[in-house]
Amino acid sequence: MTTEELIEAGNRYLFGTYRRFPIVLVRGKGARVWDSDGKEYLDFLAGIAVCSLGHSHPRVVRAIQAQAETLTHVSNLYHIEPQIRLAKLLVENSFADRVFFCNSGAEAIEGAIKLARKYGHERMGGDRHEIIAMDNSFHGRTLAAVTATGQKKYQAGFEPLPEGFLHVPYNDLEAAAAAVSDRTCGILVEPVQGEGGIRIPSPEYLKGLRKLCDDRGLLLIFDEVQTGMGRTGHLFAHEAWGVTPDVMTLAKALGNGYPLGALLAREDVASVFVPGNHASTFGGNPLGMAAGIAVMEILLDGDTLPHCRAMGTRFRSGLESLKKRHGIVREVRGLGLMTGMELSVPGDDIVVRAMKKGLLINCTAGNVLRFVPPFVVTEDDVDEAVRILDGVMGES
Ligand SMILES: Cc1ncc(COP(=O)(O)O)c(C=O)c1O
Repeated sequence: MTTEELIEAGNRYLFGTYRRFPIVLVRGKGARVWDSDGKEYLDFLAGIAVCSLGHSHPRVVRAIQAQAETLTHVSNLYHIEPQIRLAKLLVENSFADRVFFCNSGAEAIEGAIKLARKYGHERMGGDRHEIIAMDNSFHGRTLAAVTATGQKKYQAGFEPLPEGFLHVPYNDLEAAAAAVSDRTCGILVEPVQGEGGIRIPSPEYLKGLRKLCDDRGLLLIFDEVQTGMGRTGHLFAHEAWGVTPDVMTLAKALGNGYPLGALLAREDVASVFVPGNHASTFGGNPLGMAAGIAVMEILLDGDTLPHCRAMGTRFRSGLESLKKRHGIVREVRGLGLMTGMELSVPGDDIVVRAMKKGLLINCTAGNVLRFVPPFVVTEDDVDEAVRILDGVMGES
């Protein structure tokens, strides 16, 4: 099929849930992808912060191939060796004592909500089931996750929404404290808001939420679906602030493209889930676990994270130079290789023009260009991205 025929067939046969760019990506290697007409792109989106080790990372590919030839799926009726190995790696390198595996970010959030409610009912006394979440947050599209999400546009049309969620402004400790009641069981927050526009909290914010949860006996739940697995230059973003949660969700980069999610918790919290409370047919299957183990090993050994931090710093200093040259740039902000560039105008047009010039990025929150490139980007890649953006902005 030609590219036009493919796009036409996609529009004919698929649900119309996505507004897609008119290209078909067919191949990827490292920080580059190619479309069906052979055009090459520098990929500063990485499948929306998923392929953090780059496309087709040889070690991840080998791990998936070897596991596919050995055992792909058996169900959680049996013990699964790679699942145990990945859980051990995650536990040994985080605050958590236990891991539950699922298949996506929304599912991990769904698990966290169920866990917090059960903990509230069983361990806190009274009717503690409410979760305080943040305005402009994003937690996924299942009914509970979209209700936890602090953006009305994602909820419209799906009412009645499940009850038990409150929203307060992000980065506002007083508002969070004022929202706590005798119904609250936990506080859910992204350490850095991703879809909400790459918003980084004040240095006191996460520490303050930790103290509030400690004082009031609440669970602190970090949604690290986007920020986790090295994206911010730390294995988990909360390490940057020296604050640990009680519960954490992961997905996106955990499988570097293989769909994986995980729910992590401290022992006394995880222990409220007993057989029959939560499950997933595919969750923790050997194939996905092989991908996750390879990802964890790469992030842990070697200089992946220092390189991520160094490239992030170089990239942001390049973007700062664009701020001086182009009046539409309001602010550049980020951590590691998670960067946002807030504009005074809508960003969609720049995204399309950058794509035409061979750079893939996206725009979130209407006017924030989001850059989440793979950690394998080189200095040349970073400089090339800045050069392309400079050209695109110069045309405005
Ligand atoms: C912070 C955060 N939580 C949850 C999700 C939902 O993940 P998924 O799309 O895998 O369900 C996302 C997706 O963008 C996210 O950024």
